[in-house]
Amino acid sequence: MGSDAGHVPVLLAEALELLAVRPGALCVDGTVGLGGHAAAVLRATAPDGRLVGLDKDGETLAAAQARLAEFGPRVRLEQGDYREIPERLAGEKADAILLDLGVSSVQLDDPARGFSFQAEGPLDMRLDRSGETTAADVVNRMRESELARLIHEYGEEPASRRIARAIVFARERKPIETTTELADIVRRAAPRRRPGGLHPATRTFQALRIRVNRELDGLAEAFVRIAGCLAPGGRMAVIAFHSLEDRAAKEAFRTLGSRGFRVLTKKPVRPGEAEVRANPRARSARLRAVRREEAAA
Ligand SMILES: C[S@@+](CC[C@H](N)C(=O)[O-])C[C@H]1O[C@@H](n2cnc3c(N)ncnc32)[C@H](O)[C@@H]1O
Repeated sequence: MGSDAGHVPVLLAEALELLAVRPGALCVDGTVGLGGHAAAVLRATAPDGRLVGLDKDGETLAAAQARLAEFGPRVRLEQGDYREIPERLAGEKADAILLDLGVSSVQLDDPARGFSFQAEGPLDMRLDRSGETTAADVVNRMRESELARLIHEYGEEPASRRIARAIVFARERKPIETTTELADIVRRAAPRRRPGGLHPATRTFQALRIRVNRELDGLAEAFVRIAGCLAPGGRMAVIAFHSLEDRAAKEAFRTLGSRGFRVLTKKPVRPGEAEVRANPRARSARLRAVRREEAAA
């Protein structure tokens, strides 16, 4: 995550070590973002390693294209969901697959994208801007009970009912259109200080982002399918930024453990203090990895 100026890929050294990439490897970065991890993978696989990079966000992909241009034909970038990796590889087997989930700080910091409650912007939150549903559609149209369930399940927010009620009350007077309007409604409904100094709206925004982009839909099953694209000895690493994604990775890796894969991380790898100090957004990152056994069919 990060802007190009301050762009710092999260858990980079740890991910590279777990992926054990070598010259000549075929690597897949399913969430290429600004290309920070991808550039490091391409350097580690020089002179002839190849990388297939996907991202759901077309604007991000254009930035990755510019950043990774120096690697020429060794890189192939495509817009798409990482769930499509098996189809995109069309039968080719990968030596390493990386998924660094969530949003980048470039996306988060751009008010026009609507991910952040810190700056006023439209309540959008779509990674793929051709997607139909925006966060404004969700907050203005969803039934109160459904909204409460969404904020509870995807935001793990204890005050979900109170927040849903306040949203419905506010939208009866006028539609909720901006990030700061929504953040104010949430803050007034549930103003208590949160553990770790979280802003009261953090969890509600997380829940909306997950819903708008369908981030958790079939996630564990998708990880299992994607791991099926690994060559024998190939490795896959997943970096998650909240417990729901991490749980999906853990569940998928448990399934893979009984299907010819070996889990390389008993516990998730967390960033050290120095990394969190340099890049506070790394603080919730958790990295897990698996390896396809050589003898696997
Ligand atoms: C944390 S950033 C990745 C940063 C990247 N590793 C780097 O070093 O620049 C996550 C990226 O995943 C993308 N993304 C999120 N969900 C996706 C999905 N389902 N399929 C493909 N890309 C996705 C986002 O658009 C964002 O660019």
